[in-house]
Amino acid sequence: MEINNEFIGISENRLHHMYGVAKKAYSVSKEMGYNEDFARKMFVLGWNHDIGYEFSKTQEEHPDVSSNMIASAFLEDTFWGEKTTLSMGAIRKHGRYVEKETPEWIILNIADMLIDSGGREVSVSERLNGIMERYGEHSDQYLTACDICYRIGLTAVNFAALET
Ligand SMILES: [Fe+2]
Repeated sequence: MEINNEFIGISENRLHHMYGVAKKAYSVSKEMGYNEDFARKMFVLGWNHDIGYEFSKTQEEHPDVSSNMIASAFLEDTFWGEKTTLSMGAIRKHGRYVEKETPEWIILNIADMLIDSGGREVSVSERLNGIMERYGEHSDQYLTACDICYRIGLTAVNFAALET
C-alpha cells in the first residue's frame, strides 16, 4: 500500500537533517559533560525528533505526531497523556515553549538549531535565516525559533524581540 501523499513526508533533505541533529545532540551532550548513555539517548532523540512528518499534514502538528508514534512503538498499554518520559517530552516540545526546561529539551533544540534543513552543520544565524526564508519573518515558526535560541543560550539577543 502506498503511503498517503496528503502527508508532508520525510524528504531526503529532512532525513539528512534528522541524522545531523542526532550526531549534534550526541556531541553537544558530551561537551556538556553528560555520560555516554545520556549522549546516546540524545542521539536517539535527534534521530527521531522529526519522524512524525511522515504522517503529518501540517508543520505545526509534527512534534505531536512524532512523540505519539514513539510512545505507541515503545510504551505498551499506554498513550500520551497517561504516561510519558522526559525524552518523549523533549520531542513533543522541540521548537515549542516549555514551562520547565529539561536537559533533553535544551540539547535537542541546540542540535536542531545548529543543523540546517538539509543536514549541514551551520551557525545559529544561518539556521534562523533559513527558517525565516522558509516560513516568513513574522511567522510563528521563525519567532518561536528566535525565542528558543535565546532561551537556550545560542544567541545573545532575542531576534524576535528586535522586530518592529
Ligand atoms: Fe521538528
